Amino acid sequence: MLFDRYRAFLPLSEHTPALTLGEGDTPLVAAPRLASAIGVRELFLKYEGANPTGSFKDRGMVVAVAKAMEAGATSVICASTGNTSASAAAYAAHAGIESIVVVPAGKIALGKLAQALMYGARLLVIDGNFDAALHIVRELSDEFPVTLVNSVNPHRLEGQATAAYEICDTLGGPPDALCLPVGNAGNITAYWLGFRRYHEAGRIDRLPKMLGFQAAGAAPIVLGHPVEHPETIATAIRIGNPASWCYALDARDQSGGLIEMVTDEQILQSWRDLARLEGVFVEPASAAGVAGLRMLASQGRAEPDARYVAVLTGHGLKDPGLAVEQFAAPAPVKAEMSAILGWLGW
Ligand code: F0G
Repeated sequence: MLFDRYRAFLPLSEHTPALTLGEGDTPLVAAPRLASAIGVRELFLKYEGANPTGSFKDRGMVVAVAKAMEAGATSVICASTGNTSASAAAYAAHAGIESIVVVPAGKIALGKLAQALMYGARLLVIDGNFDAALHIVRELSDEFPVTLVNSVNPHRLEGQATAAYEICDTLGGPPDALCLPVGNAGNITAYWLGFRRYHEAGRIDRLPKMLGFQAAGAAPIVLGHPVEHPETIATAIRIGNPASWCYALDARDQSGGLIEMVTDEQILQSWRDLARLEGVFVEPASAAGVAGLRMLASQGRAEPDARYVAVLTGHGLKDPGLAVEQFAAPAPVKAEMSAILGWLGW
């Protein structure tokens, strides 16, 4: 349990309830085949899809909901492109409190919608995008007795920082660089917080570079201005005005890293490669970090001997519709051996 393993690094008191669904301790998968396809020596995949609700959000949500319970809250609220809402709804259900989740109409992957419904959230679908939803929940939580559990809640970031601790503990030191998708920019902020904390505590002797990647149609940080109508196939990161924008710039600049953008085409290529070359199925947004690393390598901007870790933020089954759309459904073959052998070409 995260609370036991990283208690010294979490904002827990003796009154914080021991909430858990078994989050954290996710696999760090060596990816030699993908590394060689990309052209880097060493690549590990931090597979956050293995969390209880299928995304990295659980690390922060368990802390945010436990702290909300400790403060006597009976209701939590969030805006979401899908994963935050799934996670908030699950932890609220486990805690026995209400969750209200606000999502943009028509842009939530099917698995995430199913989760919010199943976990019993009050699901408010708005005719507007994530940025509008975040504005609404901020206002509501300012005026009404409901706790905001988006990543602007500092407990979320503290919880998500545990992924950085796990990577260092598993590798026996920090990676040289961390590649990850950037949407609302909470996760890049949390990882940088985590690496700095571990450094200050003397657990690691140097800091990794933070390499963040936005989708080209939703790249406000790269462009330097908000994007009014963000668009990308990677719906999880379809965000035009990230809440943690300035912290993401700090992470980039203090680490000597970068935040750049990748096209939907590049994202989909890495999304397929992750599944086919390594057996790791992620949702499209999660492939943005790998797509970014591939782009850097192809431009001669990757360090050939560096140890890279790419964060795979969400499970592939979150967005099954897109996966099926990408491939023509095979026509049925007669259940007779001759027909089968013909199909196999044997
Ligand atoms: N990858 C996935 C699968 C996500 O769901 C998100 C964010 C990100 C990457 C980007 O992380 O926002 O911390 O920069 N999803 C949020 C949500 C916005 O509502 O589920 P970030």
